[in-house]
Amino acid sequence: MTETKLERIAVALDTDDRDTYSRWCGLFGPRVGVLKVGPRVVLRWGRDAVREAAATGADVFLDMKFHDIPSTVAGAVGAAKELGVTYLTVHAGGGRRMLEAAAEEAGDDVRVLGITVLTHLGAEDLQDLDLPGAAGDRVLSWAGSAKAAGCAGVVCSPLELATLRARLGPELLLVSPGIRFDTSAAADDQRRVASPSAALRAGADLLVIGRPLTRAADPEAVLAALAEACAQV
Ligand code: C5P
Repeated sequence: MTETKLERIAVALDTDDRDTYSRWCGLFGPRVGVLKVGPRVVLRWGRDAVREAAATGADVFLDMKFHDIPSTVAGAVGAAKELGVTYLTVHAGGGRRMLEAAAEEAGDDVRVLGITVLTHLGAEDLQDLDLPGAAGDRVLSWAGSAKAAGCAGVVCSPLELATLRARLGPELLLVSPGIRFDTSAAADDQRRVASPSAALRAGADLLVIGRPLTRAADPEAVLAALAEACAQV
């Protein structure tokens, strides 16, 4: 049993089964700082599921990755604000005006995080998308746009954390998925990965962890390993 609440861990509650969702809320909610819900959960069970996560005492991270015209995104941010979520995501590639509209609507109530380059994308995927240059350069430029537009933070892979921290300063929240304990093994669909301690050392404020925790044979052991990684930094 992990005693200390893991404030810097966000558990990704990605499931299609309602009972599993409730079980994960009960298991992880009191133990971590943040529970992350995305489209799979919201489209099935809606606002009740978001409230269930919030009722555990954890902050809720609504990961819908909005990307639309500014007024539509602002409307979505307003609805999320009413729900009482603490973090939400918008695509940083949606452009300056969209990011500004999201940040303005969020005000001080919600932390808007700009998604940079998703962690399943490698160099060849970016080429396919006609996005020239290395992933790291694109992450830096999109993260800079998110910051300039007033977003509270960005989501990036662990491999870009150190550069973003050095280039964009201490205030910007850096949130990192793509966390794997064994970075040499297959990492599901994630490409740019790092261990929890490496990501924290590189400057992450919040680690998003899904399958390594939710699909673990022994989640308690994983929580304990995360506690150790957090304590070392
Ligand atoms: O299971 P895993 O640890 O790979 O889960 C990562 C979570 O983080 C998923 O919910 C995924 O949608 C989310 N995410 C991501 N890459 C981003 C942004 C969010 O993997 N750039």
